[in-house]
Order: sequence, then structure tokens, then C-alpha cells
Amino acid sequence: MNTIKTIEWVKNNVVMIDQRLLPEKEVYNTYRDYKGVAEAIKKMVVRGAPAIGVAGAFGVAIGASKIKTDDMKAFKREFAGIAKLLASTRPTAVNLFWAIDRMTRTAEENSRLSVAELKKRLIDEARRIHREDIEINRAMGRHGQKLIKDNSTVLTHCNAGALATAGYGTALGVIRGAVEAGKNIKVFADETRPFLQGSRLTAWELKKDNIDVTLITDNMAGYMMKKGFINSVVVGADRIAANGDTANKIGTYSVAILAKEHGIPFYVAAPTSTIDVKIKHGDFIPIEERDETEVTHMKGIRIAPKGINVKNPAFDVTPARLISAIITEKGVVRAPYAGNIRKLFKKT
Ligand code: MRU
Repeated sequence: MNTIKTIEWVKNNVVMIDQRLLPEKEVYNTYRDYKGVAEAIKKMVVRGAPAIGVAGAFGVAIGASKIKTDDMKAFKREFAGIAKLLASTRPTAVNLFWAIDRMTRTAEENSRLSVAELKKRLIDEARRIHREDIEINRAMGRHGQKLIKDNSTVLTHCNAGALATAGYGTALGVIRGAVEAGKNIKVFADETRPFLQGSRLTAWELKKDNIDVTLITDNMAGYMMKKGFINSVVVGADRIAANGDTANKIGTYSVAILAKEHGIPFYVAAPTSTIDVKIKHGDFIPIEERDETEVTHMKGIRIAPKGINVKNPAFDVTPARLISAIITEKGVVRAPYAGNIRKLFKKT
């Protein structure tokens, strides 16, 4: 199950599937420098918090590998510029900053080596981040699948699948875990306006895996819940505050309220690298505002009047009180989140 190659390190280049072209075209782009990788993150060639993290790490590695100096001081100066540019691409998914910090720490801890040796270490570290992400997702799948009942239907929002990670997925990893455990699972995928990650990506990757998926538009979720078609909700996360408040794709908050109203469990699946313990609660999470053409246009065709006022926040924050549990690679966390998240970070 799941053979999609979202992002890979191939012969010292970064290869990514162009997610803007899915589901019609399966095109793999090769990036040979960090500026290209930064642009790919900004323009959504690669998206989804863990995948952005891996792209950030690969971007640092490829940028560092091309620095033309043997002098460590000069190397470090250029390295800082590379890290800064990559960190400026998207603001909400904390995995990007987490990965860049990890790469920066690797550079600092190995600055006694020669520049050539350090370059190798950085490539190794980025590849480790990539490998670990797949293992982490599989662990989340094993923990999370226990929450999903046999013969049930799961609603998901956006794409928190193989395409949003190095592979397997977070929310879709939990669904894959349940299917692999032999459960009969049906999935409802919200289309996820305006970028359509649900219809273009989630529907595509689940169908490819022969998982029973039904596409609905975002405004159908309440009706489907009321009719009894949905038994649980599983979504991913871009940043989780220390108190459990969770930023995820715009529309997630509405789904969480609907789930509460209908007594349906609402689960968040995310690696611990998505938890930002420095942020006390959700109000402090930076929310990316994207270009208004994502709302006014569809495939280049205008679908709103010229000159109309538009808002396009890419994420919203679901308060912890609406979340039944957070599924991580270290186990399932329930309320009270502040204390239990702290305990999670004490676990080895
Ligand atoms: O704007 P995107 O497509 O990067 O947003 C992605 C999401 O909101 C995902 O749900 C989240 O990153 C979790 S991915 C495992």
C-alpha cells in the first residue's frame, strides 16, 4: 500500500511530484539548488506540514552542498542565508522551522569537521529526517487505527496523506493503519476549497490504494453527519500549541464544531515535530494569508466579479476542547492537553 514518491533525494538533487498538477498529470520536478526548493514550497509544488519540513531539510542540504568555500566561517555565513530564505517560504507549518533548526544544529555540532565532511553530514541528516518521517507515520497509523472502529466511515479534510509527508501520511496513515489491520473502512473526503487538496490529492491517493473514498464538497459535511454517514473525523495539523489548540487547513474548525454537535469523535493525527511547545495557545499561531486569485479563479478562469474584496486565510485554529484525541508517533494524547503534551516530551 502506498507507493507514491512525494519527495526524494536522488543523486544529490531533490525530486518532487508537482502537486499542483494532480490528479490529471503525474509530473516529477528535479531541483538542483535551494532557491528552486524554496520556490517549490512557496508555490505549493510540495505542501503538507511534514513534507514541507522534509523539503526544508533537503533545501538546506542542497544549498550547503553547493557553497564554494573551504573556510568554515564563510561557509557558516552562507549557510545562515540559505536557512533564512527557506524559512521565509510559508509561516504556519512548524515542521519547516523544526527541520531547518535540526539542520542548523547539525552544522553547529559538526563545525570542527572540514567543510567537505560537514556537507556530507548535512545530506545524511536531511535523508534521516526523510526516512524517520515515514517510520513516524507508520507508528501513528498503528496507534491511531485502534480508535477507528471496524465497518465505519471516517471524514477527513484537506490532504494529510502520503502527499503531505515523506510517505504513508498522518490522518490518512491512521486510515491506512485501520485498513491494514483488516478493518472495513470507508472515507469521506472534503473537497477543501480553495486549493482543493481533498478532491485533487486525498481522493487521488486513496483511490490509487483502493480505499473506499467518497468525495463531498465542504458544505456537505454537516448534512452527512446528521444523516449518520460519518462515525469519526481524522485530520492532520500544521502546528499544535502547548495547550492542544490545533492549526490545520481552513475549514477544519467548522468540521470540529459540526462533529461536536453530532457527538462524533474528532481526532488530530500529527508527529511530535508539529507540536510547538513555545506557543502557549492557538491565538499565537501565525496564519498564512494566500493570494486572492486562489478564491477568485479556478484553473485560471475567473469565478468571481473583478474588484471583489477577498479574504484567503489558508488555516484556522481548532480549540483543544473540540479535539477528542491527538494521535502522535509516541502514542495517543487526550485532555487535559497541556499536562499530557508536556509528559509526551519527557518520554524518550
Ligand atoms: O496548505 P497545505 O496544503 O500545505 O495545508 C496542508 C494541511 O493543512 C494539512 O492538513 C496538514 O499540513 C497536515 S499534513 C500531514
